[in-house]
Amino acid sequence: MVLSIPRHIAIIMDGNGRWAQRRGRPRVFGHVRGSTRVRDVVREANRLGVKVLTLYAFSTENWSRPEAERKVLWKLLRKFLLRDAKELHQQNIRLRVIGEMERLDSETRLVLDQVMHQLCSNTGLQLTIALSYGSKRELVNAARAFAQDCLEGRRQADSMSEELMEHYLWTAGFGEFSQVDLFIRTSGEQRVSNFLLWQAAYAELVFTEVCWPDFSSENLMDAVREYSVRERRFGGLTKETNSSSIMAPIKKTKTGIFI
Ligand code: IPE
Ligand code: IPE
Ligand code: MG
Repeated sequence: MVLSIPRHIAIIMDGNGRWAQRRGRPRVFGHVRGSTRVRDVVREANRLGVKVLTLYAFSTENWSRPEAERKVLWKLLRKFLLRDAKELHQQNIRLRVIGEMERLDSETRLVLDQVMHQLCSNTGLQLTIALSYGSKRELVNAARAFAQDCLEGRRQADSMSEELMEHYLWTAGFGEFSQVDLFIRTSGEQRVSNFLLWQAAYAELVFTEVCWPDFSSENLMDAVREYSVRERRFGGLTKETNSSSIMAPIKKTKTGIFI
């Protein structure tokens, strides 16, 4: 089977808490284990030749979680970045972040800036981490920035288009890879939870029962295989459709035309 490799994969890394609780452990145990899964998945995506891998690590809604849990999540992110920066560099991987960077604590921002700088001249996979990310927030910010540009005379209201919209999103700069091809959610939940609503407009959705702390490079391959057998029609027809199957011969009778 010839695999069709998605150019942009987005993953909702979900199920850490349930994974831990099923084992009689505190939720943060699941986050610790979950943070160790990122490396394999990033490595595999890079090996496959994926261009962009976007990981949902913290949503705008996740601020409603208890502070103790939030603190652990930010600490694990810093730990992952500091521990894996060298390997990411060796693999020619770039790093980007999307979301409300201004809401992050200064220590986390510093580490992010440092690692992004270290990897900025790489040309392989673009790893994107969504932090304090929410699509609705992203779209509201885009609308505000565009309105401001109109007020200050830099844009005309009727210049807004699908292409221009992309410039106002946090994914601006992703160029031709901004649209998600394969959208994966772990842990059995079947919803998109405010993730990449614009960018995933035509993504293929794959939901797996596997919780993030168990998600492996083999599970990623399973999702890519599933993607490979999907037919992406983008509102058109299948390649095999021939004209004779579209139009039936038209019969004219005295009472009218029917097919
Ligand atoms: C995903 O796992 C990690 C984050 C949302 C930060 P959860 O913490 O949501 O785990 P469940 O869904 O409660 O099991
Ligand atoms: C989505 O998971 C956010 C991340 C994985 C970072 P949640 O667990 O927060 O989403 P809901 O509450 O199930 O929608
Ligand atoms: Mg969850």
